[in-house]
Amino acid sequence: METNMKKTGAFLPPEAIREQLAAADRIRLGYAAQGRTDDNAPGYYVLTFGCQQNEADSERLGGLCAAMGYRRVDDMADADLILVNTCAIREHAEKKALSIIGSCKHLREKNPDLLVGIGGCMVTQKHRADKLKNSYPYVTFTFDTGAVHLLPSLVENALAGGKRQFIHSEAYEIAEGLPLDRTSKHMAWLSVMYGCNNFCSYCIVPYVRGRERSRRMEDILTEAKMLIADGAKDITLLGQNVNSYGKDLADSADDPDFSDVVRAVCALDGDFRLRFMTSHPKDASDRLIAAIADCPKVARHFHLPVQSGSDEILKRMNRKYTSAHYKSLIDRLKAAVPDISITSDIIVGFPGETEEDFEATLDMLRYVEYDMIFSFIYSPRPGTPAAEMPDQVPHEVSTARFERLLALQNEISLRRNERFLGQTLRVLVEGVSKTDDNMLTGRGDPVRPVHFPGESSLIGQFVNVKIEKITPFTLEGAMSN
Ligand code: SAH
Ligand code: SF4
Ligand code: F3S
Repeated sequence: METNMKKTGAFLPPEAIREQLAAADRIRLGYAAQGRTDDNAPGYYVLTFGCQQNEADSERLGGLCAAMGYRRVDDMADADLILVNTCAIREHAEKKALSIIGSCKHLREKNPDLLVGIGGCMVTQKHRADKLKNSYPYVTFTFDTGAVHLLPSLVENALAGGKRQFIHSEAYEIAEGLPLDRTSKHMAWLSVMYGCNNFCSYCIVPYVRGRERSRRMEDILTEAKMLIADGAKDITLLGQNVNSYGKDLADSADDPDFSDVVRAVCALDGDFRLRFMTSHPKDASDRLIAAIADCPKVARHFHLPVQSGSDEILKRMNRKYTSAHYKSLIDRLKAAVPDISITSDIIVGFPGETEEDFEATLDMLRYVEYDMIFSFIYSPRPGTPAAEMPDQVPHEVSTARFERLLALQNEISLRRNERFLGQTLRVLVEGVSKTDDNMLTGRGDPVRPVHFPGESSLIGQFVNVKIEKITPFTLEGAMSN
């Protein structure tokens, strides 16, 4: 009994979803009765900040909007329903979201029927939702990350002239069976777990995404098959801590772990490439490394954020590994998958970071030879332990270190990219280049964007591209057989 509760306790009851889909249907029929269907249907616009998890949530919001009879519009000014899916990871992310939300004021003045709903990690913090409630009267409703499925009832209430609503969920349960409005035909997100238990001392995510919850393997595989049938050729398995998948389910050694998910998705029929993110070094197992080595559909890429190369800083970040452990993991990974590309997140200027600590991070870059890094200047997040730590690093010191970090990584990236010169890569064509109409942009395996001349009719297909030119960030070439 206990076991059963553990396995199903994290899921919303199916009736709760059915209720929302019924509300969506009522809204759609209401619009239809006013003749608002097809080209005349009300417009929705979803703006997404933050990580891929938010992108994935936005596709669910879009799916619910479509179920309510809305059609997607490309211009915020044409929308009858604006949804902003916010992020709180750094102060800058919150400022950007608040400024966009502020710009809804004049749209609302022009169109008093406009509904403005704010979701995501920023409004999951009560003080932010309160601020929107009190100082942004044109915000119709807010909903936290546990309340994505409630969108239809929020819209129904607003359309009926009900009070503004500000939802704070008691639990963050998994909502299976929500419709999806995918934003790319050939690329797809597939969440396998939600939440994070790690409480890195600088990070807001565990407070705004709740504890780790894994989806059932059968639900993941059903969705993967649907995505493949719908044309997905590049699928990314998502989780805040994706490789801890299954730990909340594990009742016996036979229960699946993340490597089993990777193997099971790869075993599905279809010509697709599989990626996954983000992994935590403490949960990166030899079983996972073996799955990457064994499965040709898995991109030869491992995003394994180290954050810092200093043991002292790693300890205060509560990362639960040492630089020696991380390096041994990298050694095993490179031995098992020699053509692997490794990428990382790095935080510069964590409280108390000395010149020596920072040098240890530079040493880590040299040791691993990352293909690419995503680097961030530390941003204190109210409510996290690091925000209260002494010795906050002055901004000018962090900025100078940040520049040094980038300069070193650019050298390393360029050197790493040299190995592709003269090689032929299999590239999924994503679109026409933003800077040149005659050029296409695609995603190679592993991580770099690839540019080459070609026709837009190739978008969504795999093509072979022989690499002739490199920069630290991109590869260029020509199609070949
Ligand atoms: N779950 C993932 C992603 C977390 S957010 C992981 O553990 O790697 C993405 C990145 O943002 C983190 O890896 C970290 O480098 C950065 N980040 C998180 N909180 C931050 C903060 N307060 N200031 C600066 N960067 C931060
Ligand atoms: Fe944040 Fe750490 Fe969890 Fe990543 S593992 S989401 S950095 S608390
Ligand atoms: Fe931002 Fe939330 Fe993702 S804080 S990075 S959108 S989990």
